[in-house]
Amino acid sequence: MFLFMKFPPSFSSLSPSSLFRFIVLFIITVLIVCEKTRAVVKLPPNVSVPAVLVFGDSIMDTGNNNNNLATTARCNYPPYGKDFKGGIPTGRFSNGKVPSDLIVEELGIKEFLPPYVDSKLEPGELATGVCFASGGAGYDPFTAQSSFTISLSGQLGLFREYIGKLKAAVGEERTKFILKNTLYIVVLGSNDISNTYFLTRVRQLQYPNFSAYADFMLSSASTFFKEIYGEGARRIAVFNVPPLGYLPSQRTIGGGIRRDVVVKINDAVQIFNTKLSKQLESLNHDLPDSRMVYVDVYNPLLDIIVNYQKYGYKVGDRGCCGTGTIEVVLLCNRFTPLCSNDLEYVFWDSFHPTESVYKKLISPVIGKYLNKFL
Ligand SMILES: *[C@@H]1O[C@H](CO)[C@@H](O)[C@H](O)[C@H]1NC(C)=O
Ligand SMILES: *[C@@H]1O[C@H](CO)[C@@H](O)[C@H](O)[C@H]1NC(C)=O
Repeated sequence: MFLFMKFPPSFSSLSPSSLFRFIVLFIITVLIVCEKTRAVVKLPPNVSVPAVLVFGDSIMDTGNNNNNLATTARCNYPPYGKDFKGGIPTGRFSNGKVPSDLIVEELGIKEFLPPYVDSKLEPGELATGVCFASGGAGYDPFTAQSSFTISLSGQLGLFREYIGKLKAAVGEERTKFILKNTLYIVVLGSNDISNTYFLTRVRQLQYPNFSAYADFMLSSASTFFKEIYGEGARRIAVFNVPPLGYLPSQRTIGGGIRRDVVVKINDAVQIFNTKLSKQLESLNHDLPDSRMVYVDVYNPLLDIIVNYQKYGYKVGDRGCCGTGTIEVVLLCNRFTPLCSNDLEYVFWDSFHPTESVYKKLISPVIGKYLNKFL
């Protein structure tokens, strides 16, 4: 930290005012240094996580849909990003940072995870990680197809393109090392269950029993996990699906006049999550050296939603944007009235948590699971 300043030769030769200036400068320097290296987790000295690569949906997307005018799953306009670097709508589906950013920050890698599909992406970002997630995507190929967003196979294609660019930038050997030690994060399934299965019911006709649809989602997921394993991925964190029946939009659509919790959706989510956990165990068994880790966000998020007051929130069943009962993406726009203080809300819009909730969620999750990858 003393790189930034010259240590004075002797304190006795200093006048009181320059001593005071020295102390102030010292404190500021310490604050800057601490802020820049705020890595909450400490890795063992022989372990390195050089990068984070994210595949997923709007929980993780940091702006990949911004230039895709075909989709409504876009939010690069106010009030999204209200608290992002003083109010920049970047395409993140929240008021501030999303889990992709919080994870790289927590690991001390960088402050934000840039969207890969950005013409202004700095080449220097490749070696420390990018985000392939696209709001509206799912494990079921039909989910992204119906929302005109980047499907899982599309995200895989971008990953392969990324590998080519990484090789050109850092060489074959270093690329191998990065691909092997990167932390891969996969967060999908919410749109399959809430939209494709229960809202539009496209798949309900085909799979009247949800359990069969969950198997279908998992076969697509497994193919994907094997593909990235084949490209060199080893440390793969797969988030389970959150308690969708508690989301404000689902309560409005399926919860009747009292906006009750939608039990059948939560039951479906739990069926899927149980199967996902077993599937990952079996893949770990079959694929040598793989560390595919089932990450439970369902229960910690459920606890925040149900016991919102314990966490310091005042509202747990409505979003901050508009009436909070239905507004998301297009319906949450610059003309929509906002709540006066989003720090009092669990949800930012009717589908996505506030940055404050994401922070409370992600830090303990990293603390709990990180050692499983090392
Ligand atoms: C790091 O060191 C620990 C303790 O010596 C060892 O058990 C572990 O296997 C090492 N990890 C790697 C990736 O080398
Ligand atoms: C749905 O399928 C599962 C697994 O095959 C079965 O255990 C369950 O009883 C079925 N549910 C209904 C309502 O048929």
